[in-house]
Amino acid sequence: MKKPIVFSGAQPTGQLTLGNYLGALRQWTAMQADHDCIFCVVDLHALTVRQDPVLFRERILDLAALFLACGIDPEKSTIFIQSHVPAHAELAWLLSTFTMMGELDRMTQFKDKARSHAQNVNAGLFTYPVLMAADILLYGTHKVPVGEDQKQHLELSRDVAVRFNGLHGPVFVVPEPLVTGGGAARIKDLQEPTKKMSKTAEADLAKVMILDEPTAILKKFKKAVTDGLGVIQDDETNQPGVVNLLNIWRAAKGATMEEALAHFSHNQYGRLKVETGEAVIALLEPIRNRFTELRSDPAELEGILARGADQAMVRAEAMMQRVLTALGLPLNGRRFVSQAGRS
Ligand code: TRP
Repeated sequence: MKKPIVFSGAQPTGQLTLGNYLGALRQWTAMQADHDCIFCVVDLHALTVRQDPVLFRERILDLAALFLACGIDPEKSTIFIQSHVPAHAELAWLLSTFTMMGELDRMTQFKDKARSHAQNVNAGLFTYPVLMAADILLYGTHKVPVGEDQKQHLELSRDVAVRFNGLHGPVFVVPEPLVTGGGAARIKDLQEPTKKMSKTAEADLAKVMILDEPTAILKKFKKAVTDGLGVIQDDETNQPGVVNLLNIWRAAKGATMEEALAHFSHNQYGRLKVETGEAVIALLEPIRNRFTELRSDPAELEGILARGADQAMVRAEAMMQRVLTALGLPLNGRRFVSQAGRS
C-alpha cells in the first residue's frame, strides 16, 4: 500500500508563533510516519506583496530551517523551496486557463487583501489561488492540511482539478482538506484570549514566537490576561484566559484537561502562568537550538534544500508530462534538466 500524499506550504513572511507550531507544524511532523509528505516554503506566493530582497532571502532560509528544526525530517519527507522547482509557475499558467475570473473574484482573501494593500493590487494577488492549486495538483496530492482561512482556496483547487479532468481525462487527483482540529484554532492571544493567537498581532505580549528566548517567553506568560474569579476550571465562556493557559500547558505536556485541572487544583493563577511558561520553554528550546545550528551552517541547509528540490523536480516533471500530453503540447524536444543524484 502506498502512503497517501500530503502537501503543505507556508509563506516566508514574518515569524511563526506557538499557535502555528501547535496547530500546524507539530501536526505536519506527526504525519510523516504514515504519509508521503511534501513541505514547501512558498516564496513565489510571498511576492504578491512587496519584499525587500535582502531580508526576503533570509526569511526564506529562516522558514526552511524552522521547518527542519520543528522536526520535518528530510529522510522521510520532501522539503524544498517553491522557486527551486519551476514547474510550480509553469503549471500555474496552464491552470489559469482552467480558472474563471468570477471564481477568483469571489475569493474572500483576495477581497481582504485588495482592501488592505490598495496601493498594490497586482494580478498575482488575484491569481494567487491558481499558484496554490498548482502546488497541490503537481504532486498528485491526496490531503492538504489547511487552516480555516485556506479552505476556500483548496475548494477552488478541487474545482479546477475536476474541470480539467472532465475535459482532458483523469490527470489530477482531487485533493481533500485535512481539517486539523484544535491546535492553532485553540491557542489564543495572551492579551485578548477570545482571539486566535496571530503572528500579525501588534502587541508583543500577545503572542509567543517559536524562536523567542526563554526569558521573553516567561515574561509573556507572567503577563498573560486572566480574570478575577480565582478558580482554575474549564470554563471557556467566563475564563477564556485561564482555559487558554490550561490548553497551552496541556499541549506542551501532552496531558488531558482532567490531568491539567488536577495538577492546578490549587487555583493559583501565578503558578499556572509560570508553569505554562516553563512547559513552553522546554518545548521550544530544542527547536531554537536546532534552528541556530542550521542557520550557522549554510552548507548543510543548502544541501538539504537542494536534495529536496531534486526530489520534488523529478516528481513534478512526471506530472507535467502528463498534463502537457493531455493538452496536446509536444513533449518531443522538451529538455528536462534534473540534477538528481548530485548530493
Ligand atoms: N496560501 C497558503 C497560506 O497563505 C500557503 C500555501 C501556498 C499553501 N500553497 C499551498 C498551503 C499549498 C497548502 C497547500 O497559508
